[in-house]
Amino acid sequence: VTSQTINQIRLFDLGRQYAEIQPEIEAAIHDVFSRGVYVKGPFVETFEREWAQYCGTRFAIGVSSGTTALELLFRAYGIGPGDEVIVPANTAIPTAMAVSNVGALPILADCERSSANIDPDAIEAVVTSRTKAIVPVHLYGRPARMDEVAEIARRHGLIVIEDAAQAHGARYRGKRVGSLSASAAFSFHPSKNLGAYGDGGIVTTDDPVIYEKVSQLRDIGQSARYTHVRVGTVGRLDDLHAAMLSVKLRHLDDWIAARRATAERYTRAFAGTPVSTIPDAEHEFAVYHLYVVELPDRDRVCAALDAAHVDWGIHYPTPIHQQQAYAGAPIAPRPLPVAEARSARILSLPMSANLEPAELDRVVEVVLGAFGGAA
Ligand SMILES: Cc1ncc(COP(=O)(O)O)c(C=O)c1O
Repeated sequence: VTSQTINQIRLFDLGRQYAEIQPEIEAAIHDVFSRGVYVKGPFVETFEREWAQYCGTRFAIGVSSGTTALELLFRAYGIGPGDEVIVPANTAIPTAMAVSNVGALPILADCERSSANIDPDAIEAVVTSRTKAIVPVHLYGRPARMDEVAEIARRHGLIVIEDAAQAHGARYRGKRVGSLSASAAFSFHPSKNLGAYGDGGIVTTDDPVIYEKVSQLRDIGQSARYTHVRVGTVGRLDDLHAAMLSVKLRHLDDWIAARRATAERYTRAFAGTPVSTIPDAEHEFAVYHLYVVELPDRDRVCAALDAAHVDWGIHYPTPIHQQQAYAGAPIAPRPLPVAEARSARILSLPMSANLEPAELDRVVEVVLGAFGGAA
């Protein structure tokens, strides 16, 4: 087979997803355009209601990105200069940067080798008198250990804010993420399990005070037109994105089921091989935003995937404390051996709701072939 006849297998394929739902998306675009209200309109309100209901929270507030969702939440809780916020060492960097952007200091806690999520013991080890909040991230779509996080927060009087950017629809002891703490932030970056066609995000909360503050902060501090009760920003979700997100929300549970079936096939194929996978705990319902394995000799596997026209990713190649943006910043009071070791050994394989079984078989064959083993 020549390279011309092999289709590239994408990490995720949003064009394919669009092809499935094109008539619904086009109808939603037409509705918004013809209604003629593009910000602060009815489509945002509708989607906020739908999203709050989906997550099982009283309120949802559409915002312009997941990063904005986190920043506005920190501001709403009064977190700022002099405060510390504990975040996982191996998250997407916006979790930490949102803390920095409100003038507080992100403090990194190491992750667990088994789940890749924040390690409750590592949280406990970095709590100080300046700590205000813990931000557990449901990394790769797997809920963090919220019972243990809640217990540490209760003991030290800390706020818990979930970063659910990668975990739309994931459940922990039967409850959806976004409803497991005081408030939560979601991203609708196009790559997410529920993604807009551009940037977007949302906050969920049961707290009417936080609801009011975040609603005002995203809208130049307005409580009513031309009545500015606090200093805010322009950080709103657009109606166009909201209308398209309402369409996609109707498909989300089916897409999650497809992702979980794909994850199960991968996990079965890698059992007993040098490729280690993250096991599902009984009380978790993971939604597999990413399918991340840990393996020896990653470079050899990546070269084999490249040669076979299979895309791959590393989430994330450089832990936050080793990034130039944080050079010299006192964000890592304790060593972070697990995050550092994992970053050198992890690999994200193609994962989406529309990955074909034959494509998955090809990925598995190439990965195991790189170790000289048969698929
Ligand atoms: C864990 C996590 N937190 C926060 C964000 C920030 O979201 P956004 O890109 O919408 O600002 C992302 C996505 O990039 C993420 O994966």
